[in-house]
Amino acid sequence: MKNKGWKKFLMAAGCIAVAALTAGCGSFQHVATQSAKETKEAEEDLIVVGFSQIGSESVWRTANSASIQRALSRENGFFLEFNNARQKQENQIKAIRGFISQRVDYIIFSPATEEGWETVLQEAKDAGIPVILVDRKISVSDDSLYTTWIGSDAKAEGEKAGIWLETYLGKNGRQEEDINIVVLQGTPGSSVQLGRTLGFDSIAKQHPNWHILEEKPADFTTAKGKEVMEQYIRKYQEIDVVVSQNDDMTFGAIQAMEEHGITTGVDGDVIVISFDAVREALEMVAEGTINVDVECNPEQGEYVAEIIRKLENKEPVDKENVVEEKVFTPENVAEYIDMRTY
Ligand code: AHR
Repeated sequence: MKNKGWKKFLMAAGCIAVAALTAGCGSFQHVATQSAKETKEAEEDLIVVGFSQIGSESVWRTANSASIQRALSRENGFFLEFNNARQKQENQIKAIRGFISQRVDYIIFSPATEEGWETVLQEAKDAGIPVILVDRKISVSDDSLYTTWIGSDAKAEGEKAGIWLETYLGKNGRQEEDINIVVLQGTPGSSVQLGRTLGFDSIAKQHPNWHILEEKPADFTTAKGKEVMEQYIRKYQEIDVVVSQNDDMTFGAIQAMEEHGITTGVDGDVIVISFDAVREALEMVAEGTINVDVECNPEQGEYVAEIIRKLENKEPVDKENVVEEKVFTPENVAEYIDMRTY
C-alpha cells in the first residue's frame, strides 16, 4: 500500500489523541503508556481496516461483530478500528469520513438502510480506499462505489419462509382455509426488511386465502417486538400466523402472546415463523414454540478476511458473495443446536 508509513503515523496520532481525550487530565502516565503501545501497533505491518457496524440491536448483530473482530485480528495481520453506529446512518457516515481521513487500507460497513450512501462512498472512492459491504446491501446508481458485498440473500430468506408455510398448511390439510397473518418487520428501509418482505409477499400473493392483516416495523428488538405484538393482539381477533423478521422480535412477540394466554408453535394457537436462527431460538424450535427459523448467517468475518487477502494480492473478487444458510424445523434442528455458538 502506498503512503503506509504516513497513514500509520496518522493512525498512531489519532489513537494518542483519543487516548488523551478519554483519559482526562489526571492520568498522563496512563496516556503515555497507552500511546507507546498504540505507536508500536501502528509500526507493525498490519492491514488497517475501519469497520462501521450498525449497532448492537440483536443477538445476531453481536455474533456478526464478534465474527468480524475474530477474523480481522492482529494475529491474522489486521488492525481493526471498530465503530458502533448505534442504529444511526449519520453516525455511519461520520465514521466512514473518519476512516477516510485516517487513510485506512479498507473500509467495511453494514449499512443501516439501503439509500443515502452516494456522497460518502464517492469520497472513499476519490481517496482510493476500497469499500466492502457486509450483511446488508445498498441502492446506488453507480456500483463502482463499492468493491464487493458479502451477506445474506434476504429475498430468498423471505421466499423460504413463504414456501415453508405453504408446505406446512398443506401437510395439515389447511391449504384452503383463510389464514390471517401479521408481520413484525425489521428496520424500515434496510435491505433485509425490504428483501424478507418482498420474498414472503411474493409467495403470499399466490394464495388468495392468505390475508396479511398488517406489516409493522419493530426495529429488530425484543422490546419493540413485544410492543407491536400487543397492538396486533388488541386489534385482531383471529391471528393464525406471526412472521417475525428476526429472533429478537420473536422472543418479544411470544412473551406478549403468552401474557395473553395465546399458545404458539407446533401444538399452539399461532404458527410462528422467525429469521436468524440464534441458539435460544433454535432451542424454542426444538421444544416446539417456534415452528420454523430461517437462518441468516452472521459468520461473515472469514469471508471478509479472505476477500481482503485476495484484493491485497490483486486477485479478482466477485461483486456479490452470498453466505450459506439453512431452514430449521423441529424435524432437523437437533443435529445443529450443539454447534451453535451464538
Ligand atoms: O441484517 C441482518 C439482520 O439485522 C438480522 O436479521 C437481525 O437480527 C439484525 O439485527
